[in-house]
Amino acid sequence: MNILISNDHAGVELKNAVNSFLKKKGYVVENLGDNSGESVDYPDIIHPLAKEISNNKNKKGIIMCGTGNGVSMVANKYKGVRAGLCWSKEIAELIRKHNDANILSLPARFLSS
Ligand code: RB5
Repeated sequence: MNILISNDHAGVELKNAVNSFLKKKGYVVENLGDNSGESVDYPDIIHPLAKEISNNKNKKGIIMCGTGNGVSMVANKYKGVRAGLCWSKEIAELIRKHNDANILSLPARFLSS
C-alpha cells in the first residue's frame, strides 16, 4: 500500500519516526511534508496530499501538525477525504472501522514516542 505523509514544522520529528517505521514495515511512503523545521503554513503543506487522496480512492495518508487539528480541517475540505484526529492505537482502529477514515491526523506536540 502506498501511504502519503505530510506535516508542518511542528511535525518533522514525528514524521521522520513514522516514515522510518512504515518503511521498515515494507510500505511505499511518499513524503510531501516539511523537512526543515522552519515555520510553514500548514494549509500549504496539506493541500497536495489531500488532493492526491481525493483523486485516488486506494491511497491513504498520515498528516501531522502541533495539535493535528489544523491539518485535518484542511484535508477534510476535499471530496472523499475523511481525516480523523487520533492519539492512540484504539482510536486509530476505530476511525478506520467506524468512520472509514482514509487519513490519520496526529497531534505531534501531544504524543510521546
Ligand atoms: C504551529 O505552531 C501550529 O499552529 C500547527 O502545527 C497546528 O497545531 C495547527 O493546527
